[in-house]
Amino acid sequence: MKDTNFLIIGSGVAGLTFAIKTAERFPDKESIIVTKSSKDESNTKYAQGGVAAVLDSEEDSFQKHIKDTLSAGDGLCDEEVVKMVIKEGPEHLKELMRWGANFDTDNDGKLDLAKEGGHSEYRVIHYKDITGYEIERALLRKVNELPNITILQYHFAIDLITGCLSGSMDAENRYCCGAHVLNERTGNVFTIQADHTILASGGIGVVYGHTTNPVIATGDGIAMAYRAKAQIKDMEFVQFHPTALYDDKESVSFLISEAVRGFGAYLRTKNGHRFMPDYSEMAELAPRDVVSQSIVNELKKHGDSCVYLDCTHLNKAKFLAHFPNIYKACINNNIDITKDWIPVVPAAHYVCGGIAVDKNGKTSIENLFACGESSGTGLHGANRLASNSLLEALVYAHNIYEYLCEHDPKTPEIEVSGWFNETTRAPIDLDLIRQNLNELQELMRDNAGIIRANTDLLKALRHLTTMKKRVEELYNKAEISTPLCELRNMIAVAYLIIEQSLERKENRGVFFNYDNILTTSQN
Ligand code: FAD
Ligand code: SIN
Repeated sequence: MKDTNFLIIGSGVAGLTFAIKTAERFPDKESIIVTKSSKDESNTKYAQGGVAAVLDSEEDSFQKHIKDTLSAGDGLCDEEVVKMVIKEGPEHLKELMRWGANFDTDNDGKLDLAKEGGHSEYRVIHYKDITGYEIERALLRKVNELPNITILQYHFAIDLITGCLSGSMDAENRYCCGAHVLNERTGNVFTIQADHTILASGGIGVVYGHTTNPVIATGDGIAMAYRAKAQIKDMEFVQFHPTALYDDKESVSFLISEAVRGFGAYLRTKNGHRFMPDYSEMAELAPRDVVSQSIVNELKKHGDSCVYLDCTHLNKAKFLAHFPNIYKACINNNIDITKDWIPVVPAAHYVCGGIAVDKNGKTSIENLFACGESSGTGLHGANRLASNSLLEALVYAHNIYEYLCEHDPKTPEIEVSGWFNETTRAPIDLDLIRQNLNELQELMRDNAGIIRANTDLLKALRHLTTMKKRVEELYNKAEISTPLCELRNMIAVAYLIIEQSLERKENRGVFFNYDNILTTSQN
């Protein structure tokens, strides 16, 4: 058993930002960051396009950024949250710069602004095409300077420890006082008891197999919070990025940033037709939901496996200066962007919903906070505007910090039972986990992708119920391991996506169910 003031689960932009702020403000308080892989491994590290913020532009305004966010979110954003994030975000981005994160500037020393889908102005602040890598680098350097932060790498948070404030088990009486954690190197499970627990555990892309996310994105925090009976919302809004580099492996795919379309690239079918103007006045720079749904339509129409991103008309020197990493990845795949079109397809990229939080990042469980991609703040509504998520993570990490500066609720005195380390559990065959994972990912691709239908969703729900039972039985008798816990978590996340998809009766943003059109046209 370990005790700490702040237990932070995840070392991406959200978790690290919160840790730095609290450690600086409260030198006498301790934080533990638990992270299941190496400390830099996260969705944050792979962010390419940048951070959308109105910071250094005469043409742009908060009003325009707010309007674009609301419009991308298709009527389902929480307007107060949108205003707050967009107005407060730039200050936090400046703070990130003071902490040492670099962003590109033009010849006059002004921030170089890029454009992405759904944005009416150039406002995406970036560091080449590796913005996330640079942010993660700067944050980790800062964390290393703070002696009251301990990072436990290769430690997997299994479940939250919750209790009840009064005798009743009602949701509103629940509080959180830490988590059970697996040391992946030794196999030992131990308990961390904390005054405050912050879930900053990121996204869910791996549930679909074919994703832009790294393998850590298995929705653990959302599943843990769900098991602890926290409120989870908007899980049906899974955003598919239109342009993942095509291969036939249905696994983690390299992203070709939307900023490449902002730079002037065209989307074409195999026979060369530039199809996006057929779907939207904004053409290639329509919001992501529109572009991904249009690509799926074109693929169906022509029976093709991918569409193409044409960069051949773009200035090579400028392209190389802005997108050196994408250029290199293309070369490694035998694609010379000056001559060849880049084959691309949509891939699971971002979950717009998550653990429901208020503006202070408070979940429905006392002492449990969430920020970053694992949280559902209401900023994104039915479709996230490109490059708004790093901004959201910065704002909510700050808001939780600020809330805890003003309120330091006393953790109730309770007896926390440690994890029972049984020695009789049998090690599990990794192949068995892999088979189950493949089954789950195929189920989600086939039945809960960009275009959904009730029969498919219901079929998936039945299948998932059987899988859940099978995996729970395994979980109860097998040796605890990260792959097994991740599988269990991904089944829970899949369940939430399917269940909440069935509940949504109208198509909005990234959510499209054929049966909703039929119902609407029959009414
Ligand atoms: P993450 O950065 O994903 O960090 C989560 C952390 O939690 C990781 O350290 C992980 O190991 C840890 N973790 C998870 N589960 C457990 C567990 N059970 N136990 C212990 N640790 C755990 N957004 C933008 O705004 N602009 C962009 O340009 C942009 N580009 C993107 C490009 C790509 C390829 C991808 C995948 C995403 C992109 N996004 C972008 C989205 C953005 O990167 C993420 O939403 C954001 O970085 C999430 O930050 P986070 O801190 O919430 O989570
Ligand atoms: C990209 O660079 O296209 C990703 C931006 C994002 O997901 O916000």
